[in-house]
Amino acid sequence: MPLMTWNEKMSLGVVGIDNEHKKLVGLVNELYDAIQAGKANDVLGRVLDGLVAYTESHFRHEEALFSDAGYPHSAEHKREHERLATRVLEIQAQVRDGVRGALSLDVMNFLKDWLINHIQDSDRKYIPYLPAGRSTKIAEQNQDLSVV
Ligand SMILES: [Fe+2]
Ligand SMILES: [Fe+2]
Repeated sequence: MPLMTWNEKMSLGVVGIDNEHKKLVGLVNELYDAIQAGKANDVLGRVLDGLVAYTESHFRHEEALFSDAGYPHSAEHKREHERLATRVLEIQAQVRDGVRGALSLDVMNFLKDWLINHIQDSDRKYIPYLPAGRSTKIAEQNQDLSVV
């Protein structure tokens, strides 16, 4: 069973952004499945690396969009991204070092809850600032975002 499922409450009405968020949900589930399947640490590390890489490219994408749009809470939003990135880098280092519990259920639930809350609260707030017609452009840009 997946750790989390996409639902309409997470939709922000901008197709490109929604697709990136769906991809993140999928990658969190992929990591969870690998943990549940008892995969070796190096395998978990690689799945986690893929999630981290995609998360970072998503953050850069969002930050470029809302900064260009003159979103007044850009700095605050970027700080939220940074705090998560710092936490995830710690987890990544622990997995690399073979620390037990680095990817515990608590850690996975933390990632899940962060994603849901961040999308539903913080991401939702910058959407009205994006210029009209942006959604199509975002959808096109989204095609370029590759996943490890
Ligand atoms: Fe986001
Ligand atoms: Fe965000």
